[in-house]
Amino acid sequence: MSKSSYCHNVCQADEQVASQVFVAGATGRLGCRVVLELLRNKKLKVRAGARNPEEARNLVKTATDYGILTGDAARRLTVVPVDLEDEDSIAPAVGNAGRVRPLLQYLLLAI
Ligand SMILES: NC(=O)c1ccc[n+]([C@@H]2O[C@H](COP(=O)([O-])OP(=O)(O)OC[C@H]3O[C@@H](n4cnc5c(N)ncnc54)[C@H](OP(=O)(O)O)[C@@H]3O)[C@@H](O)[C@H]2O)c1
Repeated sequence: MSKSSYCHNVCQADEQVASQVFVAGATGRLGCRVVLELLRNKKLKVRAGARNPEEARNLVKTATDYGILTGDAARRLTVVPVDLEDEDSIAPAVGNAGRVRPLLQYLLLAI
C-alpha cells in the first residue's frame, strides 16, 4: 500500500471522536496490551482491528470470563474487521475514531 493511499484511508473519517481509538494488530502481543491499557481509561472506547474478528471476539470473551477484562471495559471495546493489505477495509474499520494506533511496521511505511 502506498503512503498516500494509507494516509487517505486513515484520515478519511470525518466527525472524529477523540475518545475513540482505533488499534490495528489488536490480537498481537503488543496490540492486546495497548488495548487493555487504553481501556483502563473509562473515558475511552476502543475499536480493535483484527483480520479474523470472530477469533478476536472469542479472545475478548475468554479475557472477560477470566477477569482480565471487566464487563465495563468489554462494553467499550468493539472488534472490527481490518486487513491493512486491503485498503478498502481501513476506513470502515477506523470509523470515526479520532486516534489511530497502527501496527508499527505500517506506521513506519507511512512516514
Ligand atoms: N513485541 C515486541 O516486543 C516488539 C518490540 C518492538 C517492535 N515490535 C513491532 O511491533 C509490531 C507488533 O509486534 P507484536 O509482537 O505485537 O506482533 P504479533 O504478536 O505477531 O502481532 C501481530 C499483529 O499484527 C496483526 N496483523 C498482521 N498483519 C496484518 C494485516 N495485514 N492487517 C491487519 N493486521 C495484521 C496480527 O493480526 P492477526 O491476528 O490477524 O494475525 C496481529 O494482531 C511488529 O511490527 C513488531 O516488529 C514488537
